[in-house]
Amino acid sequence: MAAIAVAGKGGTGKTTIAALAVRYLLQAGQTPVLAVDADPNSNLGQTLGIKVGLTVGSLREQGFAGQRDIPGGMTKDQFVEYKMSEALAEGEGFDLLTMGRPEGAGCYCFVNNLIRRFMDGLAGGYRHVVMDNEAGLEHLSRRTTRKTDVLLVIADAGVRGIQAARRVLDLAVEMKIDVGESMFVLNRATDESLAALSPEIERLKLPLVAVIPEDAGLFKAEVAGTSLMELSDEAPVVAAAAPLFDKIFSQ
Ligand SMILES: Nc1ncnc2c1ncn2[C@@H]1O[C@H](COP(=O)(O)OP(=O)(O)OP(=O)(O)O)[C@@H](O)[C@H]1O
Ligand SMILES: [Mg+2]
Repeated sequence: MAAIAVAGKGGTGKTTIAALAVRYLLQAGQTPVLAVDADPNSNLGQTLGIKVGLTVGSLREQGFAGQRDIPGGMTKDQFVEYKMSEALAEGEGFDLLTMGRPEGAGCYCFVNNLIRRFMDGLAGGYRHVVMDNEAGLEHLSRRTTRKTDVLLVIADAGVRGIQAARRVLDLAVEMKIDVGESMFVLNRATDESLAALSPEIERLKLPLVAVIPEDAGLFKAEVAGTSLMELSDEAPVVAAAAPLFDKIFSQ
């Protein structure tokens, strides 16, 4: 069982890599998988080809905010489980929990504690958990009982991208996120960019575990509105990511 979290600067390929991880696990028969979209700008559902109904954020906004909302005869835990199941989209071999908008200005401590407890319990029912994060790592820092086995930090092939990866790693330490191992992935790279960036990568002091090439097929899939689940095994991104996932999920 592994819980992996994908992080990195905006637009570097977090959602793509998270979706490819889910795709890999489904193909390997390592199911069931819980995919968590922790980015307020949610689009993991789209890349996984699954329709998202409610989000945890929308439930929170719907007045699911305090003790008084719980119907008589229901325990707090039963109520939260019932409500949260509405935000859990069921796919073939995986479920997707979409966090949606973060809370507004009100006090949400009560509901946040329940959500956290629910998520920690929920994760236990799955073989693997794959979490697509926003750059701030906020949801990740909220998880309490479960450790993140692998933090995959994605950078695009540029000096700024790699520096941003460093900041994500520092942030994870600062926020005391319990991470087993951090891994660094360079996305949209060419041989030339890799060579040019190697001094910068060296300074990151984190082994580069995968280099994912630019793949024109992703743009085509986006234009056609197809999910990443429909990419062929030979697609450059799928083939390049496979050894990375072999490494993570065979541990
Ligand atoms: N290796 C690649 N080759 C070609 N296009 C790619 C590659 N990786 C990602 N993309 C494209 O780049 C865009 C951003 O990717 P993605 O949505 O995965 O990034 P993200 O880090 O999740 O972004 P955000 O911060 O907005 O959530 C998408 O259009 C995606 O299809
Ligand atoms: Mg994303």
